[in-house]
Amino acid sequence: LDNGLARTPALGYNTWNAYGGDISEELIRATADLMVSTGLKKAGYHYLVIDDAWSNLQRNDQGRIEANSDRFPSGMKAMADYIHSKGLKFGMYSDAGSHTCLGYPGSRYHEEDDAECFADWGVDFLKYDNCWAPASDWVIDRYTAMHAALNGTGRPILYSMCDWGVGDPWLWAPKIANSWRTTGDISPSWESMLRCLDNTIGLSEFAKPGAWNDPDMLEVGNPGLTEQEQRANFAIWAILKSPLMVGTDLRRLSKTALEILTAEEVIAVNQDKLGVAGDLIWKRGPTEVYAGPLEDGSRAVVLFNRHTSGTQYPLSNITVQWQDLGFENDVDATVRDLFARKDLGTFRGEWTGVVGLHDVRMVKISPTESSSRYKDWRP
Ligand code: GLA
Repeated sequence: LDNGLARTPALGYNTWNAYGGDISEELIRATADLMVSTGLKKAGYHYLVIDDAWSNLQRNDQGRIEANSDRFPSGMKAMADYIHSKGLKFGMYSDAGSHTCLGYPGSRYHEEDDAECFADWGVDFLKYDNCWAPASDWVIDRYTAMHAALNGTGRPILYSMCDWGVGDPWLWAPKIANSWRTTGDISPSWESMLRCLDNTIGLSEFAKPGAWNDPDMLEVGNPGLTEQEQRANFAIWAILKSPLMVGTDLRRLSKTALEILTAEEVIAVNQDKLGVAGDLIWKRGPTEVYAGPLEDGSRAVVLFNRHTSGTQYPLSNITVQWQDLGFENDVDATVRDLFARKDLGTFRGEWTGVVGLHDVRMVKISPTESSSRYKDWRP
């Protein structure tokens, strides 16, 4: 969507993966404070998004949607002011059906009123879910109605569609939204993460500045994924140019999870100004290579080992060939490890990384010669 927002994928925090509907204004204030004190804000995570369960179960007598009187007694304007006072941006959640997934009021047929209300509160981001949609309604109409309503407020509000991939949104959402979901919900498990990933492979051509594929929010930091799997979640989501929405309890954030989430050279790939999404470029059995181009002519590359534990091969050698990156084979290129922040040397034609089970290596490959010898990037 050409609204000036999300020229690179959104970076932020969302309450759902960590808390479900168990949210309150104290928790949001604490999360805002922790986004600053942990260094997440400094690393680029600017949106703090309150997911489902923030409102009363009924609209008020004027048909207005209101903050939950028990859990958000100070109201949403105060919440917005607090979040903005921390230098963060404020994200809210609603639904393109009659109710949200947890049964709170949805915005269907209230799009303009609700968009006005969000704008009055100072909302900067709207995640728009897909529960309780009347079967007679066309998904494109429902999502376009909120697009028009947000546009009508005159306030820049990043529009994050949570459509679960219904109706092949990559074909129509780039015109009306800043991102769209390519999958059902992620949960903190290896299988779920792979399902979200596999549903997003091959869709890179539909992404561009202002309009991104969203394989769902991060599970980094959550029990259910090993350290290796959390690193894979982060690296692959980064190279696919997914929005990177942290979804773990920041009050109990481990050092390892924080290191993954603040790996600045990985974030730099996600936020690279060229804005071309990476994709799967090579696969042999459970070993895979993802790659995409960067503004300076380099390529970002993720080697991914999907071999399951218990295998006789605890480590895999995975090779990326220059020709699969659009480089001539006789080009010399430097390879830099992006998690380790370390140069690995200069290589010609190919580079092989050793990758542990369920783990990734993420590198940047930069030719040392003139760019006239690069071919076009075609994933
Ligand atoms: C759906 C969405 C989730 C979350 C929940 C809230 O399942 O896909 O991301 O917003 O609803 O109920």
